[in-house]
Amino acid sequence: MKSIIVCKSVSHGNTRKVADVIGEVLGARVVDPSEIDVGELSAYDCVGFGSGVRNMDFYRELREFAASLPEGQRAKAFVFNTSGFPEPPFRRYQRNFVSLLENKGFEVVDTFSCYGYDTFLPLKIVGGVRKGRPNTEDLEAARGFAEGLRDPDRLSPLM
Ligand SMILES: Cc1cc2nc3c(=O)[nH]c(=O)nc-3n(C[C@H](O)[C@H](O)[C@H](O)COP(=O)(O)O)c2cc1C
Repeated sequence: MKSIIVCKSVSHGNTRKVADVIGEVLGARVVDPSEIDVGELSAYDCVGFGSGVRNMDFYRELREFAASLPEGQRAKAFVFNTSGFPEPPFRRYQRNFVSLLENKGFEVVDTFSCYGYDTFLPLKIVGGVRKGRPNTEDLEAARGFAEGLRDPDRLSPLM
């Protein structure tokens, strides 16, 4: 299975840490959206999309990248994010991003999220929240998630 991870990580490299662990398990290259042309994705059987969260949404650069992909995508996909807070029930940004991918034709097989050190301005005053996250346990959970992606029942036709 040929995999790639497109990851936008801005604040502290939190999401990149998660992406690197998943990439290691899957043997996948991790790239910023600016480092890959939309047409290049068709060469992959499985595409991971990772983002930090800003103002209750995935980073604009990743959303724009996904929105610019042509319809009729045939690959499997997975989605992950880091955030300072749980996703609010009134703003399902991860679900919205999954829907965007599904509308492009991807089969989204799984999602993952964990906390990331958050220094959004008002929180900066108190030194931020979720210091040290993602921590070892978060990264182990990300590793488990990635190993699950290799589960033959989910991805085997492509492996
Ligand atoms: C300007 C700004 C806005 C943020 N907005 C949110 C938010 O709406 N919800 C949330 O849970 N976390 C929010 N965060 C926290 C980030 O999502 C979190 O720190 C994330 O791990 C950043 O990932 P990165 O280091 O990969 O960019 C915000 C952080 C910043 C700096």
